Amino acid sequence: MPGDDQGYAPEQPIAFSHRLHAGELEMDCLYCHYGARWSRHAGVPPAELCMNCHQSVTASLDAVAEERARAEEEGREPQTVVSPDLARLYGYLGLDENRKPVPGAEPQPVPWVRVHDLPDFVWFDHRPHVRRGIQCQQCHGPVEGMERMQQWSDLSMGWCLDCHRSNPAVPGHSLEGLDPRERSLASVPTDCSTCHL
Ligand code: HEC
Ligand code: HEC
Ligand code: HEC
Ligand code: HEC
Ligand code: HEC
Repeated sequence: MPGDDQGYAPEQPIAFSHRLHAGELEMDCLYCHYGARWSRHAGVPPAELCMNCHQSVTASLDAVAEERARAEEEGREPQTVVSPDLARLYGYLGLDENRKPVPGAEPQPVPWVRVHDLPDFVWFDHRPHVRRGIQCQQCHGPVEGMERMQQWSDLSMGWCLDCHRSNPAVPGHSLEGLDPRERSLASVPTDCSTCHL
């Protein structure tokens, strides 16, 4: 049923953690979801972007430190540690664990499982919302704490309309004290055709 997917958190092909990347490492949402400013869809980044870091970061810092300590104990050179999830990332890119191309392997997109999915008869566009200064978290919840991505809001029509009607929910955009012309410029459309083309 539409609107029933609140809390939906499917398992992903790679255990990507927003808590780690957006929380602990404090990465900006737009570094990966740059589409949210410039296009209707925020988009999920291509695996090539992950390689900006994962060309050299092949496992958690803990796992690397553990291997170093073990190598020292055993009087040998430390080996490269590759976590199973990052090995999968390299696999989709057609690379082996040393990040060298596997002969004959074609790079494939990571088959991420889509979490949010409005019905086709609804028109949603990130641009006006993001440019108006609405935080991602106002709609997607505390993403920087999520180990696995989940649908936070119910995405029902009532949810959209509650915010559109109470425009002051957008910080710095109270309608109070505005004259009628300013009010109409600042207000958010609520007629059916806004969201149903
Ligand atoms: C390092 C890159 C990266 C950063 C930084 C990042 N994300 Fe993501 N995001 C992803 C990837 C990869 C996925 C797809 C896998 C998943 O769902 O976990 C995703 C999925 C999502 C989804 C669900 C998409 C769907 O299928 O419906 C939302 C919503 C989202 N991110 C919001 C955010 C927000 C908000 C922030 C900042 C607090 C953020 N992301 C930071 C990479 C990133
Ligand atoms: C006003 C509410 C709202 C805000 C603000 C918002 N989103 Fe979304 N987001 C949605 C809705 C609704 C969907 C589902 C769209 C669909 O299914 O067509 C969605 C879908 C997504 C998706 C997956 C599908 C896609 O569009 O690519 C990602 C990733 C995402 N949002 C990231 C972000 C990030 C990052 C930000 C902040 C820069 C953000 N969103 C701000 C409501 C919002
Ligand atoms: C700005 C740098 C950066 C980018 C970009 C980045 N990561 Fe990471 N990622 C890290 C660091 C650093 C760690 C290790 C943190 C730790 O010590 O636990 C990590 C850890 C991980 C891990 C956990 C490894 C394990 O098994 O312990 C996975 C999986 C992962 N990243 C996937 C991704 C994916 C997928 C993308 C692209 C959507 C991505 N990362 C983009 C920096 C980055
Ligand atoms: C947290 C508040 C908030 C939520 C939730 C929200 N919106 Fe909006 N929306 C706004 C604001 C504010 C604007 C006006 C942006 C501007 O143009 O200044 C807007 C504008 C729009 C526009 C562009 C209207 C136009 O013609 O300029 C569409 C389309 C839209 N929203 C659809 C949706 C849909 C569909 C949902 C639910 C899935 C939704 N919105 C949820 C606050 C919200
Ligand atoms: C701000 C965006 C927005 C506006 C304005 C809006 N709707 Fe919707 N509407 C939605 C969303 C989102 C859904 C999908 C809800 C779901 O999946 O649960 C929806 C669903 C529907 C449905 C499907 C039945 C249902 O309840 O799921 C009908 C019919 C509908 N809208 C009619 C209208 C009419 C008539 C108007 C004008 C009076 C209107 N809508 C205005 C966002 C909007």
